[in-house]
Amino acid sequence: MSSTPILALGRSTFGDAANKDNLLPIEEAHALLNEWVPNERLRLHMKQVAAVMKAWALEREGADERTAQKWELAGLLHDADWEKHPDAHCRIIIEKLEELNVDPEVIHCIASHGPKYFGVEPETRMDKMIYVFDELSGFIHAAALIRPTRYEGMDVKSILKKLKTPSFAAQVNRDDINDALSRIDTPLEEIIQFIIDHQRDVQ
Ligand SMILES: [Fe+2]
Repeated sequence: MSSTPILALGRSTFGDAANKDNLLPIEEAHALLNEWVPNERLRLHMKQVAAVMKAWALEREGADERTAQKWELAGLLHDADWEKHPDAHCRIIIEKLEELNVDPEVIHCIASHGPKYFGVEPETRMDKMIYVFDELSGFIHAAALIRPTRYEGMDVKSILKKLKTPSFAAQVNRDDINDALSRIDTPLEEIIQFIIDHQRDVQ
């Protein structure tokens, strides 16, 4: 018998269909992030995931600007409640976005970025890609921080090697990464290169 994860949301539908295409202006999303997340490093993580999500939507999904903004918004706010409400992570930001009448697709994307923890399965491409990018983005940034030249000259091979070293960034769950990758058809190497290219200049 499996136990219910502590952060389980206990529901699978989010937001109101009438709010489709309602997005929070990106400046407002940044203001919310600044208010809710005092930790600069955690804020950077969300900005990096946002940048990678937006770039992927535009370059790999053929998304228009508006759709890419959805991907960006989900990335930017996916951990917004983590610092202040670790025991209710995801629930609080979801309720906030529902209150702000944000597009249900964005809310579902945030709700499904850790299926094992929140009990919500990724369904759309946006859902699946945030799940793929979340842990890997943080992992690659951790690898950059220990290099004197940071992202400069970083190659995919060195990241693959670190992934196979359990003691490096041990808090990054390799099983989650593998589970996320099993739901898409892009090879890990390609994902790593994409993340390096698109988060290196995010500040
Ligand atoms: Fe995250």
